[in-house]
Parts: sequence; structure tokens; C-alpha cells
Amino acid sequence: MKTTFHGHACFVLERDGKRVIIDPFLTGNPAADIGPDKLPRLDAILLSHGHGDHLGDAIALSKRDRATIVATFELAQFCGEKGATSHAMHIGGAHEFPFGTVKLVPAFHGGRVEGDATGKYTTNPCGVVLTIGGKTVYHCGDTALTVEMQLLAGRIDLMLVPIGDNFTMGVEDAARAVEFVKPKSVIPMHYNTWDLIKADPQEFRRLVGNRAAVTILSPGESHTLT
Ligand code: NI
Ligand code: MN
Repeated sequence: MKTTFHGHACFVLERDGKRVIIDPFLTGNPAADIGPDKLPRLDAILLSHGHGDHLGDAIALSKRDRATIVATFELAQFCGEKGATSHAMHIGGAHEFPFGTVKLVPAFHGGRVEGDATGKYTTNPCGVVLTIGGKTVYHCGDTALTVEMQLLAGRIDLMLVPIGDNFTMGVEDAARAVEFVKPKSVIPMHYNTWDLIKADPQEFRRLVGNRAAVTILSPGESHTLT
């Protein structure tokens, strides 16, 4: 499985000719290496929550590629009403899609949906666990450190973890999250996009130590899980 980082919390995962994007915030993302127009055709769009730096270009990309947006019920409904193709799930549930299996897991964060003037789509943020071809990736979304992460212990090949502090875990809690989940590989995210979430990924790597292999990606770089 090939994992490409596009800045902030946006990753493209590819395997067996299927292409899935998580949290496609490219337009207006100061850390993005490409605009949404440069993204190849997508099979699905997975969302951790409705904040603008995660929902991003999801609706436009769904319309462009007829790619299914997979999200919590309220956020999926919001995207559907905006003309996107969407599949609603909720935390604790898993579903098998043509591109792989998605399970949504808890995240502790804010529930506002960007662009929702009514407030009726407010939802629970989540983490996304995606299994493709026998490999399992856990995108934590935006979250605090939570004991619920321990339920994933030993079941994750690759963990995508926020380290930027202020809105999410900082490097110390993120390293504890790695202790909880015990993934084989980790890629830090959600840092250095803006000054407020400045963090040192080398410090994160030092804190994780030999518990997992930490790969630090610059926007545009890829990691291959074998
Ligand atoms: Ni957020
Ligand atoms: Mn965020």
C-alpha cells in the first residue's frame, strides 16, 4: 500500500488500482503540495470530521469523480445535500466497500460542519480505520489522547497521528497514543501548517523511540507499506 502525504491531515492511499483520499484539504491549505485539480481519479473520500481543514475539497472531488464520501451520518447527510455521493456510517460501525473496509472509531474534538449555516449537521468527529489488501491504516483525525485508542492495540500497520498541539494531541500525547496502539509504522500529521500548530517531528520520533518506525513525510512524499 502506497501512502502519499499532501500536507496537514490529507493522505492518498493506493493499492490494487484503487485510490482513496482522507481529509482532502488542498484549496487554501498552505502546506499542500498540489491543488485538487492535480489529484488523479479517486474511488472514495474518507472524512474524519466537518472542520474546514478536513472537509476541504471533499464535495467538489466527489462530484468530479463520482467518488463516495464516507463519513459520520450527519456529515455524510450534509455532503449529500450539497450534491455529493455519500455513505453514512457511525462510530463503532464497519462496512465493506469495493476499495476496502472502513471502520469509524472515537475521536475527542469539535463537531461543527464547515459551511453549515443551520447548525443541524453538528456531528461527532471520528478516527478512520481502513483495511485494504490485508493492511490496516488508522487515521486518528483530530483528537485528544483517549483510552479508547487502546482497543486498537496490535491491530494497526500504519498510524497517521496528529502532533501539532493546541487543537489536537501534541508530541508527548501523540507518542503515548503510539504506545496505546502499538502500530508497526507511524507518520505524524497536523503540524506546521500554521504557526499555532508548530511542532518538531524529530522530537516526536525521539519520544516514540523504538516502539514503532516513524516516517516523517514532506508534502508530496510517499511511504510504502510492504
Ligand atoms: Ni478539527
Ligand atoms: Mn484540524
